[in-house]
Amino acid sequence: MTYHSLLGGDTLDIINQLHNYRKEENELKWEGTFKEYLELLKERKEVAQTAHSRIYEMIASAGVEKQNGRNVYKFFNEEMFGLEESIERLVEEYFHPAAKRLDVKKRVLLLMGPVSGGKSTIVTMLKRGLEQYSRTDEGAVYAIKGCPMHEDPLHLIPTPLRESFYKEYGIRIEGSLSPLNSLRLEEEYEGRIEDVVVERILFSEDRRVGIGTFTPSDPKSQDIADLTGSIDFSTIAEYGSESDPRAYRFDGELNKANRGLMEFQEMLKLDEKFLWHLLSLTQEGNFKAGRFALISADELIVAHTNETEYRSFISNKKNEALHSRLIVIPIPYNLKVSAEEKIYQKMIQESDMAHVHIAPHALRVAAIFSVLSRLKASKKQGVDRLKKLRLYDGQSVEGFNDADTEELKNEFMDEGMDGVDPRYVINRISSAIIRKEVPSINALDVLRSLKDGFDQHASISAEDRDTYMNYISMARKEYDEIAKKEVQKAFVYSYEESAKTLMDNYLDNVEAFCNKNKLRDPLTGEEVSPDEKLMRSLEEQIGISENAKKAFREEILIRISAYARKSQRFDYRSHDRLREAIQKKLFADLKDVVKITTTSATPDETQLKKMNEVVARLVDEHGYNSVSANELLRYVGSLLNR
Ligand SMILES: Nc1ncnc2c1ncn2[C@@H]1O[C@H](COP(=O)(O)OP(=O)(O)OP(=O)(O)O)[C@@H](O)[C@H]1O
Ligand SMILES: [Mg+2]
Repeated sequence: MTYHSLLGGDTLDIINQLHNYRKEENELKWEGTFKEYLELLKERKEVAQTAHSRIYEMIASAGVEKQNGRNVYKFFNEEMFGLEESIERLVEEYFHPAAKRLDVKKRVLLLMGPVSGGKSTIVTMLKRGLEQYSRTDEGAVYAIKGCPMHEDPLHLIPTPLRESFYKEYGIRIEGSLSPLNSLRLEEEYEGRIEDVVVERILFSEDRRVGIGTFTPSDPKSQDIADLTGSIDFSTIAEYGSESDPRAYRFDGELNKANRGLMEFQEMLKLDEKFLWHLLSLTQEGNFKAGRFALISADELIVAHTNETEYRSFISNKKNEALHSRLIVIPIPYNLKVSAEEKIYQKMIQESDMAHVHIAPHALRVAAIFSVLSRLKASKKQGVDRLKKLRLYDGQSVEGFNDADTEELKNEFMDEGMDGVDPRYVINRISSAIIRKEVPSINALDVLRSLKDGFDQHASISAEDRDTYMNYISMARKEYDEIAKKEVQKAFVYSYEESAKTLMDNYLDNVEAFCNKNKLRDPLTGEEVSPDEKLMRSLEEQIGISENAKKAFREEILIRISAYARKSQRFDYRSHDRLREAIQKKLFADLKDVVKITTTSATPDETQLKKMNEVVARLVDEHGYNSVSANELLRYVGSLLNR
């Protein structure tokens, strides 16, 4: 049974859910002697895996999908968008080999990338993931009970016996028993290893089990105890000596994160002496605390930094030794417009703007702008920035194929390391919302707000400004096209119907004209002459002159009777030129409707009706609300008026 299966659906009230939660947590409890633990191990070797291996298994167990020859790791898929390549690299250059106990395991994992590029999000996903995973059968973790560092029970096996243990169990043991547990083994268990009590532990950052975060304070006053624990002066008297491990509090972040993961924030800002501790830990799998022998630890250390900080770090000779102990994985910005839209959607959902109506394409134009700012200009023939943007997004561009896209991606190794960050966009969207009175914003509001924010953005220099202005107008042009098409689409919905009505109307008139008949007004029953104005308005669309109109009309009538003889139905598609005329007329009408209604203060009844229909369709079928639909029509009206 999975951890969450008991939590049930939404129908349970919170008290029930709490009850179930407690029940599940209790069901996960396990306690037994070391002897019993060994029996368990025979069945389930995986519970003795290293921290790195557990993390890799967690990622792998969520599934891998093949996409264009790439491995897409689903574990990250739900929250990380467009970073498939970096994540593939992260898993395959770090997690996977580290799980196999290869050398990379001994290095600190350093995620390097621009601000708000998702580094912290990746780490948080790993942490939350591990908390969950430690509650499943496959991810279960066991530890010596009562140990503040949740020490691996297998450390109890004395070194000389480890070879035969390996032969029997197929498990390699790394690390030696900590001073505290050595002492406890003697004092509490009189050396009887098989009796030592082992328990299952559940990772929890809140309870400081297996997950830790280290945030540097002022480098001058930073205390190493935050990392490795410290002497507990209140108990020295009790135990008689500072070197008694019972007088030591193993409550540093490195201690608490043992068996799991420790996040190291702002690592490169730290004092060297701190970094050396880390070095020793990752390199030898142990660290020094107080006056004790080295303490073994088994944990993934993941840090993050930006490019500038990283460059200045490696340019310092003093850091050379440290440098070789880092595995640096670049986490650049996403470069796919569709993925960027998803990032914004997610961030908006998580914010207090979730209730605001965001008109269709508003996030897309923001995404176009951001991605434009992150791309590097290609030297490839015929590739401009917009084409590159489209190719990266997986759209088809005439004259280019997948191989070209791949070539473009390989042109620069460090693309995506600068440009506009997602947080800036979200901040500008939220300030656009504040500025507007209605909780509804559209693409133009967003673009305007992005533009207005340039002055306040620390990393946008005066030179960037002009370039960025240019990207804004490129995004705006893209939007103009999208907007025009959208209004057309909303109109075309009833296209078939409108086209048929228009054609029937036209043909009735043509027939009456050619036969020199009168028509009957459907309402009053009065006899009326054929509507010359209507017929001409259609014919003019395809350039039929006053002199040619009679021939055209007769030709159509002949066509209709030819159809009738073969008992085929004649519709507006049966005649190419007539079809063209109808199409053009309908769109010209649209243009007029939009123009007139947006420019005249008092639209007539039919115009109003048409407008209302289009608005209704935009709302019902295209994701607008009445505010944004009317804004769209007004805008497209102004575009058509130009
Ligand atoms: N590729 C992405 N996919 C999904 N979300 C993203 C992506 N890039 C950024 N984000 C979102 O942007 C916000 C900022 O990301 P995050 O805090 O993880 O960045 P960071 O790299 O740690 O930045 P900083 O350097 O400022 O600490 C988060 O809400 C995150 O979810
Ligand atoms: Mg961060």
